[in-house]
Amino acid sequence: MTENQTAIAYLIAGVFFIMALRGLSSPVTARRGNFLAIAGMVIAIATTLASPHVVSYEWIAAGVVIGGAIGTFIALRIQMTALPQLVAAFHSLVGLAAVFVAAAAFYAPEAYGIGQAGDIHVESLIEMGLGTAIGAITFTGSIIAFGKLQGLITSNPLVFPGQHLLNALLLALLIAAIGYFCFDQSPMIFWIIVGLSLAIGILVIVPIGGADMPVVISMLNSYSGWAACGIGFTLSNNMLIITGALVGSSGAILSYIMCKGMNRSFFSVILGGFGGETAGPAAGPGGDRSAKSGSAEDAAFILKNAGSVIIVPGYGFAVAQAQHALREMADMLKEQGVKVRYAIHPVAGRMPGHMNVLLAEAKVPYDEVFELEDINRDFASTDVAFVIGANDVVNPAAKTDTTSPIYGMPVLDAENAGTVLFCKRSLASGYAGVDNPLFYRDNTMMLFGDAKKMCEDVVKALG
Ligand code: TAP
Repeated sequence: MTENQTAIAYLIAGVFFIMALRGLSSPVTARRGNFLAIAGMVIAIATTLASPHVVSYEWIAAGVVIGGAIGTFIALRIQMTALPQLVAAFHSLVGLAAVFVAAAAFYAPEAYGIGQAGDIHVESLIEMGLGTAIGAITFTGSIIAFGKLQGLITSNPLVFPGQHLLNALLLALLIAAIGYFCFDQSPMIFWIIVGLSLAIGILVIVPIGGADMPVVISMLNSYSGWAACGIGFTLSNNMLIITGALVGSSGAILSYIMCKGMNRSFFSVILGGFGGETAGPAAGPGGDRSAKSGSAEDAAFILKNAGSVIIVPGYGFAVAQAQHALREMADMLKEQGVKVRYAIHPVAGRMPGHMNVLLAEAKVPYDEVFELEDINRDFASTDVAFVIGANDVVNPAAKTDTTSPIYGMPVLDAENAGTVLFCKRSLASGYAGVDNPLFYRDNTMMLFGDAKKMCEDVVKALG
């Protein structure tokens, strides 16, 4: 393939990727978006393999076979609820790859056409320094995020005095080291950049609390994109530059949208630890509050006598894999003339779009599924809110309790419905670790049990 043909093929792949992002912005077109992304990736890989610069197909084949086997094995085994930590783990590899490519280019610059050892072009040194730094930060940051999401490290914010000062100092040192690297190309400076960046990656993520984790994931997604973009400059590969920039900027936009959804300041989250500052100990049920509980038969009676029902799914709904049973329940209610809609909180579950994917899997019609801002006002005129496996996303304390770690996060106003049916296994708290006063409201009935089993029992009682 000539240089021109390669450039045109990469451009076509880039257009496919942009159209894929457009498709992925709505559940209705997401499937098409995925196919466009796959097509773009096939074009990109085939073009790269056809490049005259390829020196060894054996090494590439070995990488594809080993990497492909590991990827397939993991993809087949992974539970959907564990996807966020899988994404974090994969991001760490993108970061590590960026560091390795930069190290390879540093030690063998002739192979990359960027100068001689000890006499590398200044612009390449800048790209290399930035790419290495972003890659190493992404690497350790993603490993910490993986540990927190997998429960290997506490999801509470780890804060200590002088933390922000230390972070600022390390960042200043890193910038100085990258600047100095342009004048002194010694391996020691290169590895100092790597070391400082690895430390910053850890220190930036450890102080971030559980409630801010969704933003961290999309932020690391963005970092991994910029790391790939950096590799693209080092390798003079336009495709990597385009794709990296697309991932980097879409990840940044998603982080911003999620920060807005959780009422967090973007900069406080990325600087680390500020988001967790209001986190006090989780308030226990305490006092003389008691929650009313009911059976599946009680729930079926209330539901079939309702004119309208809004279903609020959350993380427990995903754990229980209750989507098909819930769909069956909703169908039966609709047959009995009940208006059924679904309310989706932007951070319900454990990854962006988690609930939409499950509802789509159960073939719930898209026109019954509403985002928070489109449905929140309707709870007040709805007979029943059926909260299934959700907790934090309907916690009214987010609106009133200034000491709560989730204070300020927009929540679904389920408490405004005539009756709240709250299906979960216990009165335990959700991801943010805070008690939910909605359990103890007069208009709330707890339906204790597994979400799928409860839906199946309600279906039986409705039948
Ligand atoms: P959570 O607040 O985490 O609550 C889920 C509830 O599901 C738990 O309280 C649990 O109570 C219940 N549950 C667990 N297994 C169940 C089962 N088999 N059947 C029935 N219930 C079950 O979930 P949410 O309301 O969806 O809120 C999401 C939270 O996760 C937010 O704090 C958000 O910030 C955070 N987060 C979100 C993301 C993204 S991107 N969406 C990523 C990371 C973190 P029991 O134990 O009593 O059953």
